[in-house]
Amino acid sequence: MSATRPYVLVLYYSRHGATRTLAEQVAAGVESLGDIDARLRTVPPVSPTCEAVDPEIPESGAVYATLDDLRHCAGLALGSPTRFGNMASPLKYFLDTSSELWLNGALIDKPATAFTSTASLHGGQEATLLSMLIPLLHHGMVYAGVPYSETALLATTSGGTPYGTSHVAGGRNERDVDETERHLAKAQGRRIARLARALHAETSHA
Ligand SMILES: Cc1cc2nc3c(=O)[nH]c(=O)nc-3n(C[C@H](O)[C@H](O)[C@H](O)COP(=O)(O)O)c2cc1C
Repeated sequence: MSATRPYVLVLYYSRHGATRTLAEQVAAGVESLGDIDARLRTVPPVSPTCEAVDPEIPESGAVYATLDDLRHCAGLALGSPTRFGNMASPLKYFLDTSSELWLNGALIDKPATAFTSTASLHGGQEATLLSMLIPLLHHGMVYAGVPYSETALLATTSGGTPYGTSHVAGGRNERDVDETERHLAKAQGRRIARLARALHAETSHA
């Protein structure tokens, strides 16, 4: 167990920046509680050629996640662009390196949530969010979406689902994350932080 303050790992992949903006809102929601941290991390792109080597520190955005970031988190918020109705391979690739955590049950009973960005309104947001939930359930995590007490879910004409926050980017990624999408991402961050804080307190006193 880490000696640092409990934190929610906000782990995302983003090529054009939309999922990164959602991640920053989720992190702001986590930090708004004041007594639990958000640890914002990304993953490197994967290359079809095994020779390609990227710098160890990305040019912009969060630094790359390590397995220890995942191992010691009190909760997880996972963000990915939609790729053919599924999560992007760099994020899946990272999760596929987490067998040791699975073997040791390191993520059991920790809360998790997911968020995504698509080009089009009906481009597979819910399918992607549900696909992101599958490996988290294998790890024994407790999934939390966005409840309808967030009334923006009923009113939104852009992103936002009970499975997790979403954003609609448009065919040329021309659409910024709007106020409703930002609001829901932040609320999602607050919720996962509250759950992480409660479950962390329960397990650390057990
Ligand atoms: C290989 C690939 C597959 C994609 N598949 C979908 C899709 O199934 N549905 C959709 O609406 N958008 C799809 N997109 C568009 C991205 O989801 C969209 O551009 C998203 O906003 C990118 O997020 P980012 O700004 O975080 O990179 C795809 C993009 C790529 C490159």
